Amino acid sequence: MTETFPLAGRTVRRVGFGAMQLPGPGVMGPPRDRDEALRVLRRAVERGVNHIDTAQFYGPEVSNELIREALHPYAADLAIVSKVGVRRDESGAWLPAQTPAELRADVEENLRTLGVDHLTAVNLRRMDEYADGSDDVALEDQVAELAALRDEGKIGGVGLSTVSGADLSAARAITEIVCVQNPFSLVDQKDSDVLDSCTEAGIAYVPYFPLGSAFPHLPKVTDQPVVTALAARRGVPAARVGLAWLLARADNVLLIPGTSSVAHLEENMATADFELTEEELAELAAAA
Ligand SMILES: NC(=O)c1ccc[n+]([C@@H]2O[C@H](COP(=O)([O-])OP(=O)(O)OC[C@H]3O[C@@H](n4cnc5c(N)ncnc54)[C@H](OP(=O)(O)O)[C@@H]3O)[C@@H](O)[C@H]2O)c1
Repeated sequence: MTETFPLAGRTVRRVGFGAMQLPGPGVMGPPRDRDEALRVLRRAVERGVNHIDTAQFYGPEVSNELIREALHPYAADLAIVSKVGVRRDESGAWLPAQTPAELRADVEENLRTLGVDHLTAVNLRRMDEYADGSDDVALEDQVAELAALRDEGKIGGVGLSTVSGADLSAARAITEIVCVQNPFSLVDQKDSDVLDSCTEAGIAYVPYFPLGSAFPHLPKVTDQPVVTALAARRGVPAARVGLAWLLARADNVLLIPGTSSVAHLEENMATADFELTEEELAELAAAA
């Protein structure tokens, strides 16, 4: 199994960290345990994480502020990737902020709160529909704005999130795309085709919800009988089976599991040294 993959001109380890679980419930407000959140971030880097995924709208501002407090000044090899295109209201709703001007302002906010003048990559987080039914913003205009931010030196690479294969093709016709971040896991394999396209094109594929997310209404990888049975046989936590399956799926898959606990972080980091056998992979495939 390969241990690293290129991301926006850097080489990152395949087990990274997603910062969405650090703020309070519903990804709003301060963490339940601020000291633990800071420990999670510091321990992640100690354990070799050099790819952290975040967003200004986590908290909002909470994840970025914690990352800055825990890790600034950042290690030279730390890739910080953010995403733009969403804003929150006071109730915690996830609202589109998709115009080119909003995307630019969101990048600037990320730079300010993270305390950097450059982000490794930024994903355009597409949200299709405005609540008032007004027209969606053209993908082409959004990608062009992020490409301009890259050419100005503010971001190292342009990524896409929550996109279709057609969106990916349209964006690649405009500029280089360095990563795609879509939902994908053992319990949600609808994005297989986009993943395969990224593999073919040498683009990093960064599955979000790799364990099924923290949202209670979505199925959890760690609840699947085939996963828990296999984990018990191997004597490892169930999460490791789900993450190892993703690493085995293709070399361009980069993991960013989210956690608010050091204990879970340690379990997830150990995935880098754990491989499923061909028989176990076949067993998981058959169950899916
Ligand atoms: N582009 C996008 O639109 C988008 C959307 C969602 C997420 N993301 C990114 O993707 C990252 C990953 O997604 P996610 O955090 O939403 O979901 P996830 O990684 O699939 O799952 C997170 C949930 O799993 C739990 N968990 C983590 N490690 C565990 C372990 N070893 N054993 C048991 N439970 C474990 C966490 O609880 P504890 O906190 O208790 O560990 C949390 O409830 C995010 O952090 C974020 O950076 C991007």
